[in-house]
Amino acid sequence: MKTNRDEYTAYNMWLQRGRRPDLPHFDVEGPDTCYFALRECLEGLERLNGTCKPAGSANAGVKLNIDKTLPPEGYRIDGGTQVVTINGADTNGLLYGVFAFLSELGRGGSYNQLSLSSAPAVSRRVINHWDNMTGAVERGYSGKSLFYRDNAFSYNPERIKDYARFLASVGINQLSINNVNVTAVSARLITEDLLPEVSKLAAIFRPYGIRLIISIDFESPKSLGRLETADPLDPSVERYWREAAELVYRHVPDLAGFLVKADSEFRGGPASIGRTQADGANVIARALAPFGGTVYWRCFVYNCTQDWRDTVTDRPKAAFENFYPLDGKFEDNVILQIKNGPSDFQVHEPNSPLFGRMNHTAQASEFQVTQEYTGQQIDLYGLAVQWQEFFDAPVSKDRITRELVGKEITAITAVGSAGDDENWTGGLLAQANLYAFGRLAWDPSLSARQLTEEWIGLTFGPDEALNPLTEMILASRGVYEKYNAPLGIGWMVNPGNHYGPSVDGYEYMKWGTYHRADTVAIGVDRTDKGTNLTAQYDPWVGAVYNSKETCPEGLLLFFHRLPYDYRLRSGKTLIQHIYDTHFEGAEDVEGFIETWDTLRPSLPEAAYQSVRNRLTLQLANAREWRDVVNTYFYRKTGIKDEKGRLIH
Ligand code: GCU
Repeated sequence: MKTNRDEYTAYNMWLQRGRRPDLPHFDVEGPDTCYFALRECLEGLERLNGTCKPAGSANAGVKLNIDKTLPPEGYRIDGGTQVVTINGADTNGLLYGVFAFLSELGRGGSYNQLSLSSAPAVSRRVINHWDNMTGAVERGYSGKSLFYRDNAFSYNPERIKDYARFLASVGINQLSINNVNVTAVSARLITEDLLPEVSKLAAIFRPYGIRLIISIDFESPKSLGRLETADPLDPSVERYWREAAELVYRHVPDLAGFLVKADSEFRGGPASIGRTQADGANVIARALAPFGGTVYWRCFVYNCTQDWRDTVTDRPKAAFENFYPLDGKFEDNVILQIKNGPSDFQVHEPNSPLFGRMNHTAQASEFQVTQEYTGQQIDLYGLAVQWQEFFDAPVSKDRITRELVGKEITAITAVGSAGDDENWTGGLLAQANLYAFGRLAWDPSLSARQLTEEWIGLTFGPDEALNPLTEMILASRGVYEKYNAPLGIGWMVNPGNHYGPSVDGYEYMKWGTYHRADTVAIGVDRTDKGTNLTAQYDPWVGAVYNSKETCPEGLLLFFHRLPYDYRLRSGKTLIQHIYDTHFEGAEDVEGFIETWDTLRPSLPEAAYQSVRNRLTLQLANAREWRDVVNTYFYRKTGIKDEKGRLIH
C-alpha cells in the first residue's frame, strides 16, 4: 500500500497524517450527544487522507450510535460498503470505537469488511505523571513537564488536547497530574489557590473521557489544615479530609480520586504515628466516597534506612509484610497500588507476592512506562514483553495473573513517559511503550508482537520491509538484560540517576538493594533457607521459586545465592554466563544498528536519524556495562573467561 511518508512527524506519534490517500470521502453522522466523537472521527479521517485529495470514488458514510446494551466503555463496529456503523456503550465507548476504526484504516485495513467489538478489561486505565510543579519531571527522560513551570500551571492547551487524544486513542481514562513525592507547592493542588487551575486542565481532558487524579500529602491536615496531627483516627483529621474533599469536588466534580505515597521514602504516613495503612487510607476514602472518588494507596512501603550488615531485613518482602495482614480492612473505594515486582521496576523481577493473595481488597498493578531502570529512552527497550510476562506469571498452580484482571485487579496504572520534547517520549521508539501500555491496560491478553506490529503500522505505515523492526523491539528487553545485572539480581546502576553500571553503587547504602557478591558466591538467598520471601507466594508458586532446579533462570539470582561455578541449565558456569551474556549484549546492540541501517529506505529520514543517534549512545552504554560488570567479577573471582576475550 502506498502511504505518504513525507507527512511523517514524530509529534504525531501513532496518529500520523496521510496514511490513506486512497480512502473515499466519508460523511459522518450521529446524534447531537455524540458530537465530540463525531468531530474526532471527521478529523481522524481527514488526517488519514492527509493533504492529498480523496481519490474520486463514491462517498461512503460513518454512522455513530449509542447502544446501551454494550458493556461499559465498549464498542462494536459493523463495516459495510455504503455505511460503517460505530456503536458505543456510552460517549467513551463511542470515542474508543472511532479510534479503533481509525486504527484499522491507518494500518491499511478495509472499512467494508470491518467487524470489531471490544470492551475494556478494567474500568480504570491510568497514567501517573511524576511531574513537579517546578517543571522538572521525576524520572522523566522526555524534557520538562507538559503542565507546569516555575511552581505554577503553565501549558499550551492545544498540546494538552493533543496529548489527551493520544491517550484516549489507546484507551487511557484517568491521569494523575503531579508527582507522588508531593511538595509544599503541589500539596496545594487541593486548596482554593490551585483548584481553579486543576478545573481548567480537567476540562481539556474531559471530552476525551479522561478524569484527573491528584497526588496528595498524607500530612496535609498539619501542613495545610493547621492541625497538630495527621492521625487518621483523630476526629479533627477526619473532618479535615471531608472538607478538603468537598472543596475539591466543588471545583472538579468528576475527579477520579487521590493518589497517596505514604510511609515511603521519608514521606509521612500512618505508620509513623502508630496507625495502620488501612487507617490511613480509609479516613481519606470515607471523605471521597460521597463523590464517587477513589483512593489509590501505594504499597511501596519499606525500610529505606537499612544497614547492609543487616541480613534479616529483606526489602522485597516489605510490601507483603505491610499489607497482606490488612486484606479486607480497606474501604471499598480504596485501591492498593502495587508495583509489578517486589523490588522497584527492575529489568527482571518476579511479580509482587501480593497479587493473587489479597482476595478482599481491590488492587492496581503499577508499571513504569518511563524507562528509569530500563534505558531512560536512550536504550531500546520494548516494555510490552516484560508486561506480558507479568500477566502470564502464575499466581497459583492453575491461575495466571491475567485472570485477576477485572476481579482483584481493578485498575492498571503506569508512571507515564510523556514530556514536552517534540516527540513526546524522548526516544522515538519509546512511543511504542506508551502505545502498548494503553492497549494492554484495555486488553492484557494482547501479545507484545501484536502491539509492536500495530504501533509500527500506525507510525511508519504498513510495510513488510519493516518486519525486522518488530523483531528488534521484541528482542530489545532480552538484549538490555544481557548487558545489565545478571539473572534477576537487579540494581548495579549508578546511584542517583540510575543509568549506566556501578556494580557496588548501592551495595553499602541504606536502600536495601544488595547483591552481596564476594569471592565465591553472589545473591541473596530468598528461599526457606534464607529470608523466606518465597513463603509469601502461593505455596505452589513459592515452591517453584524455592528450588534452584525449577526457578525460572532469569530469576535465579533474585531468589538464590549461588557460587560462581554453579552450572546453569545450559551447562555453563554462572561466571561464564555472566561473561558471555555481557559480550553478547554489546554485540547485539551492534546488530541493532546494522538492522536499523538496512531499514533506512523504508523510514522517514528524520526518524531514521534520531533513532540512529540513540542507538549509538546505547552501544556506548552496553559496552560500558560489559566492561564494568565483567571486570568486577573477574577481579572478584579470579576466574578467566573460557574464550580468552579481553576483560579490561
Ligand atoms: C523509585 C524512584 C523514585 C520514586 C519511587 C516511587 O524509587 O527512583 O524516584 O519516587 O520509586 O515509586 O515512589
